[in-house]
Amino acid sequence: MAASVAFDPATQARPRGRPVYELHGVSKTFTRRNVQALDKVDLLLTEGSFSAVIGPSGCGKSTLLKIMAGLLPPSEGSVVLEGKPVTGPRRDIGMMFQQATLFPWLTTIENIVLPIEIRDGKAAARAAYDKARSLLELVGLSGFERVYPNELSGGMAQRAAICRMLITEPAVLLLDEPFSALDELSRDFMNMEMQRICLERNATAFLVTHSIPEAVILSDVVHVMSARPGRFIESVAIDLPRPRTLDMMTGPRFGALVQRIRSHLDQGAFT
Ligand SMILES: Nc1ncnc2c1ncn2[C@@H]1O[C@H](COP(=O)(O)OP(=O)(O)O)[C@@H](O)[C@H]1O
Ligand SMILES: [Mg+2]
Repeated sequence: MAASVAFDPATQARPRGRPVYELHGVSKTFTRRNVQALDKVDLLLTEGSFSAVIGPSGCGKSTLLKIMAGLLPPSEGSVVLEGKPVTGPRRDIGMMFQQATLFPWLTTIENIVLPIEIRDGKAAARAAYDKARSLLELVGLSGFERVYPNELSGGMAQRAAICRMLITEPAVLLLDEPFSALDELSRDFMNMEMQRICLERNATAFLVTHSIPEAVILSDVVHVMSARPGRFIESVAIDLPRPRTLDMMTGPRFGALVQRIRSHLDQGAFT
């Protein structure tokens, strides 16, 4: 069984898609504390694919995402997005973190258009209200435009944060444990929402998560990262059909894939 799900992501992940992100030999050492966080990570994301990285706490997942987003420079290696090296934050990248971090003094819709305001000014932000409303509709938040974040539940705030990420129409979504603060039911629901949004927009997505079932239900490929310094020890192709549904999580194929990834626990990846 092992051989049937192990594969080389550089050649077999969504073969039809064109390359969007290409990482070669990305390493990172934080020199001030002399901590090596990443060790020679290679990664290919093709257009419209959904990939996840799973690994123990502190293994370098967030560091990898920050390097991909251009928020941190790698110590070695190259990061190329849409054929151009990533040297700083870019418009074609959307990011989402564990906490929604909506500004409490802005209404929901003001929070959502904020990236436009920062980028293009107040007039452009006002002109983006219609788009913000249709995004709110997309995530089931119609009618909450003028509500302040303290009146939103955790799940609603995360949905608003999805809208804020999508308002600039990024081609690539970088997701750092975006739903891990939610209860299990809301999290399952948000995962299905995220799948729907990505399929509708043909977005290329990269998810950092602690949850093996979450990684499996969402992804075309799951990269298992070793303990620090993080490197990919296996990339597991997830050959479940799309669209995925929550009832797939009780099926034997899903169980086998989860087990395959979990087996790395025994091999010391998570110690
Ligand atoms: N800015 C930084 N300066 C020094 N060390 C850091 C910095 N950011 C992260 N680290 C260290 O790098 C390692 C990987 O961190 P991180 O990427 O946040 O892990 P993960 O997201 O997998 O939990 C950890 O040991 C962490 O303490
Ligand atoms: Mg992290």
